[in-house]
Amino acid sequence: MSVPTIPSFFEKDHRRLDALFENFQNLKQQDFSEAQSFFKEFKQGLEKHILWEEEILFPFFEKKSGISSGPTEVMKQEHSAILKALQAIHQKVAQRDLQTGAEEKELFEILMKHNLKEENVLYPMIETEASPMEKKEIFKAMDEIHEKRYSG
Ligand SMILES: [Fe+2]
Ligand SMILES: [Fe+2]
Repeated sequence: MSVPTIPSFFEKDHRRLDALFENFQNLKQQDFSEAQSFFKEFKQGLEKHILWEEEILFPFFEKKSGISSGPTEVMKQEHSAILKALQAIHQKVAQRDLQTGAEEKELFEILMKHNLKEENVLYPMIETEASPMEKKEIFKAMDEIHEKRYSG
């Protein structure tokens, strides 16, 4: 099986998550249960995506490039803000509270800018740093994290 590029794999996951969030937003007034399950999938997927970045992708880049206080540090700070906004929506959704507009707007604004920075700057830098063998190892480690934390 051929190994995808880092930018193409992670960009695809950004778009997949965007679509799940959009489904939640579009459905929450009509079918709350359906919307709720889209939100659940979005939340799990986004948390997993952030874990891939913080535990595998960014440490690889920091070690390989010797740059640990630059772009990855900014991305990690943004992840905290993203997770905070995600949690705020989650708490309301768990109580079937539909008034999540302000929290959604906040999350959307941070996330869109964040994703663009990763796609335009960080992922291409990582792609340049990683040999084909290292990329294979990155994807393998991502699969293993997935099994460990999300199989049950
Ligand atoms: Fe990120
Ligand atoms: Fe990302």
